Amino acid sequence: MKYVVPRVSYFVAEIEDTLVGYAKLKRKSRQKGVTGDNPIELCRLYNFQEFIGKGVGKALLLKCLEFAGKNRHDTIWLGVWEDNTSAINFYRKFGFEKCGEHVFRLGENPQTNWLTQLMQRSVDNFNEDVIVTQKRYL
Ligand SMILES: CC(C)(COP(=O)(O)OP(=O)(O)OC[C@H]1O[C@@H](n2cnc3c(N)ncnc32)[C@H](O)[C@@H]1OP(=O)(O)O)[C@@H](O)C(=O)NCCC(=O)NCCS
Repeated sequence: MKYVVPRVSYFVAEIEDTLVGYAKLKRKSRQKGVTGDNPIELCRLYNFQEFIGKGVGKALLLKCLEFAGKNRHDTIWLGVWEDNTSAINFYRKFGFEKCGEHVFRLGENPQTNWLTQLMQRSVDNFNEDVIVTQKRYL
């Protein structure tokens, strides 16, 4: 039987059995500006407020990079609101670079997402208290 990798994959982060954050990846997804033969989108990366700055985002991102590598995705990309400076700086720290922009409407107002991408690389050292596992559904 052939194993088919689902289009969407979820990862949850837990510390001592408490859910502290999650990530969502989507295959076969691309926007203008994204390069690579087989990109994968990081659609969501969120921590609960009280777990920001504790290594959870990094642990989740590393798991996403590992998943992308194992499944032969040469690029991982995401859209981030241009005013979300904190997230932009977080992604920049791991080597994500701006590759385009996407304008969307929030009510009457046009808003801009930056598209940023990272070609595959490895990152080390993360908080070993954070356990990240893949879930079929979230
Ligand atoms: C963005 C987010 C996922 C980052 O996760 P986090 O758990 O706070 O980040 P971590 O504690 O894992 O930090 C990992 C590294 O990035 C650095 N970092 C984290 N936030 C940073 C920032 N705003 N600017 C620069 N560096 C930052 C840390 O110093 C740390 O560096 P180190 O490995 O050298 O110690 C998290 O803050 C979050 O959920 N924010 C709200 C939701 C959001 O904006 N999501 C992104 C939507 S696109």
